[in-house]
Amino acid sequence: MPAKKKYLVTPALPYANGPLHLGHAVEYVLCDVFVRYLRSAGHDVVFVCADDQHGTPVELSAAKQGMSPEAFVAGIWEQHRADFRDLGISLDTFHSTNSPENKHYSELIYSRLKEAGDILRRPVRQTYCEVDRRFLPDRFVRGTCPNCKSPDQYGDACEVCGKTYRPDELISPRCALCGTPPVTRESEHLFFALSRHQAWLQDLVRSRRFLHPAVANQLQAFFDQGLQDWDISRDAPYFGCPIPGEKDKFFYVWLDAPIGYISATEKWAQDTGRARSAMDLWAEESDTEIHHVIGKDIVYFHALFWPTVLKVARFKRPVQLHVHGHLTLNGEKMSKARGTMINIRTALEAFDPTYLRYFFAANLGPGPEDFDLSLPEFRARVNGELVNNFGNLANRTLSLLTGPLGGKLAPAPGEAGKSLVEAALARIPEVVSAYEALDFRAVVRTIVEVSQSANQFLQARAPWAKVKAEPEVARADLSDVSDVVALLATFLAPIVPSVTEKLFVQLGTPPLTFADLGAGRALLPRARALGTPAPLLPRLEEAQVNRLVPPEELARLAAASGKPAPAAPSPGAATAADAAAEEIDIETFARVDLRVGQVLGAARVPKADKLLKLTVDLGEGSPRTIVAGIAEAYGPEALVGRKVVVVANLKPRALRGIESRGMLLAAGTGGASLKLVDPGDLPPGSPVK
Ligand code: 2FM
Ligand code: ZN
Repeated sequence: MPAKKKYLVTPALPYANGPLHLGHAVEYVLCDVFVRYLRSAGHDVVFVCADDQHGTPVELSAAKQGMSPEAFVAGIWEQHRADFRDLGISLDTFHSTNSPENKHYSELIYSRLKEAGDILRRPVRQTYCEVDRRFLPDRFVRGTCPNCKSPDQYGDACEVCGKTYRPDELISPRCALCGTPPVTRESEHLFFALSRHQAWLQDLVRSRRFLHPAVANQLQAFFDQGLQDWDISRDAPYFGCPIPGEKDKFFYVWLDAPIGYISATEKWAQDTGRARSAMDLWAEESDTEIHHVIGKDIVYFHALFWPTVLKVARFKRPVQLHVHGHLTLNGEKMSKARGTMINIRTALEAFDPTYLRYFFAANLGPGPEDFDLSLPEFRARVNGELVNNFGNLANRTLSLLTGPLGGKLAPAPGEAGKSLVEAALARIPEVVSAYEALDFRAVVRTIVEVSQSANQFLQARAPWAKVKAEPEVARADLSDVSDVVALLATFLAPIVPSVTEKLFVQLGTPPLTFADLGAGRALLPRARALGTPAPLLPRLEEAQVNRLVPPEELARLAAASGKPAPAAPSPGAATAADAAAEEIDIETFARVDLRVGQVLGAARVPKADKLLKLTVDLGEGSPRTIVAGIAEAYGPEALVGRKVVVVANLKPRALRGIESRGMLLAAGTGGASLKLVDPGDLPPGSPVK
């Protein structure tokens, strides 16, 4: 277990321009799981966020509602704060950038950039609306794309052909506010001399600790072209921080937004008294590690401008930017227009956020890959893994111990359960490393495997059949399983804390922590009194999941993915997924050619976390290539030599550009819970009937 350290962790600051959606939730859950793990491991963690309140879009949204920007952002701040709270995000402080603290630090940092000679003045030509009497940000100019001639495109890029351009290059440009053609005007802007820091920055970006290599590679193009100086001022009218010593000039929102990380720390210091000021954490010589968690769309600001501004202003720089991918819904980009941009509040009203926390963690790896909220898979995984596999294990064990066995644990570990408990304890180091690397997907995989092995042990030992005739044998086995349940609860606590808090009460102990595990205190005292068992979490019902998306969109998504649209559930009726599959006759089944195969080779498929490419001998002379979605359940090394059951007459399909000929049979709900069907030791090619 690493020595105790100090951490400051932040998600990106959300714009105060509308409700938070599930894309935001992924980031907040990611941060929260990391923070809860660090706290459990005994580290000193400060976890802050704030609303990003400045800029033209916020000002115009307020105007649309007939409100002052201040009143508008105050309302949004309340909503955002409630979303964070109800999602179980354990922030220490949620602050805002339109605040005295942010003004103070923005001015301080600017004065240091100026002192260093890194603020330059340059004329800028920009589109200006003479009717609205304001400079127009690129997004507020619309017109015909100069490249593909699509009408009604934004002033920075065409959504149809993807070409980027300047707003004055649009054909027939017009102001998005009043519709009149804008003019071009010149004004003096202030620039931060980023280009002077290219060599230093390039070394930082390439350092493995700071940024994932996949992300660093994407930034290389900026260095190849040569870094441009950065325009940090905007002319009035602008909702932002006025620039000291300038008339009618404001800091560009992207200058003061990340400074919000510092001002939120200041607010935390003042409110809690746990530091004298933010500078205890942010001074260059501070011993706090700063970690920012961000989406891949804002890497440019965080990896180029932000560390350079901090360096020149003599502040502490983040040690790491954790960059995550985007969330899709049933394989499609979420869209506001279609109603598939699901607000966090909508999800909170539909079901307990524990389910989302689990599913997000189960899909989040250390890299910036996108991942899909496939609604059927979401439900199958939380019900299969969290509710059934883990929840039932805990409930069965504790119910037998407290019911027929009188609530007493065996005084010492038993013989039969020894290897189960030892094997579970042996997984601690890999769970710790996975948490440290923010590889929560790997954490969940281990939890599911250990939980499965405990369920198999119960199945084999059948303690429920022994409580009368051999109560001490049953007690010994169940007590050992309860040790494994406590260990799994410790592993799961950062991900689903509301579930594990309940479980520790039932286990009759204060929560175990990663610090306890590191100190060798993984096994609880057996003399303790158990609490009252109760189911930990109900199954997630299809009707609840369907509340996320309007029914017509749900039908469209289902049609696009080739599955039948879910039937509207009638009260009390079994949902589609609970009902038995459609009946077929024996002749139809007989057309499926099932055969025994033997895996000769196995490899991961690049950029496809779930897929393995297998070479399988079906006794046909030359082996077949089969791509199987079992990589979350089996590593390639575990498969070579293994016998499997193959659907041999499936039409060839292309998966990730690889032709797959056949399909393996596996039981389970998907993901890490899959178990390959074992045909025993029959030779390759044997029929399976
Ligand atoms: O992209 C966004 O949502 C920005 N509001 C993120 C700002 S992060 C930080 F710089 F404040
Ligand atoms: Zn206008």
